[in-house]
Amino acid sequence: MKNVPYSFILRRLATILAIVTLSLCLTAAITGILLSFYYEPTAGGAYNSLRIIKSEIPNGWMIQRIHQIAGQGLIATSLVEIVVMFLGEKFRPSWLTAWISGILLTLSAIALSWTAMLLDWTQLGYWRFQIELGTLEVIPVIGSLLRDILTGGGAVNTVTVAHLYTLHSYVLSIGALVLAIIHLGGLLLQEKEEKQTLMETEENLSFSE
Ligand code: HEM
Repeated sequence: MKNVPYSFILRRLATILAIVTLSLCLTAAITGILLSFYYEPTAGGAYNSLRIIKSEIPNGWMIQRIHQIAGQGLIATSLVEIVVMFLGEKFRPSWLTAWISGILLTLSAIALSWTAMLLDWTQLGYWRFQIELGTLEVIPVIGSLLRDILTGGGAVNTVTVAHLYTLHSYVLSIGALVLAIIHLGGLLLQEKEEKQTLMETEENLSFSE
């Protein structure tokens, strides 16, 4: 069997993981848009609308479950991708583009999950969010400003749900999609450059023989 270099396997694996990441991102975005048809971003309304989505809307429970799985899957695959890329490092501009976009994508995926914490308006989400706000507040200088921006005045209410929903469904989801496309593009470019280098080396070898 042909001896395939370890670094080649890692870089091919990185490209495959980038395709999986982009697919998960697209799945989450599409199911998110479907959820938004019935979801009501208000305190109380969020809980009721999700209950209706899960129990009364045809296939609503499935769309919501797919959205959850794709969102959590995105965090898991993008974290594995960072490790794979680190092990198969190749400091070319295309690799660096993929590396930086990969890290930003992982951070966006975590932020998407974080902003979704309050979106279901359950007891668990509400109190978890209060604890997280307490942690944010102790950040020097910007802590209380961050709390005010996120909550929309300090208290956790309908305005907070609306703020988190906007960040989740517009800012972060569009950002994650763009980053996933740049990430895959960088890795595909790397594969193309490597193929070219390999062909040039083979040509040079056949000339010298
Ligand atoms: C890249 C795109 C997206 C990702 C990765 C993503 C990820 C997530 C995650 C991880 C959750 C929490 C699920 C859980 O309970 O574990 C969530 C919930 C939610 N997302 Fe997204 N989301 C995306 C786009 C969108 C969009 C475009 C919308 C609406 C326009 C949306 C609406 C919602 C809603 C309403 C919830 C709360 C539903 C629930 O708690 O089950 N999402 N999302």
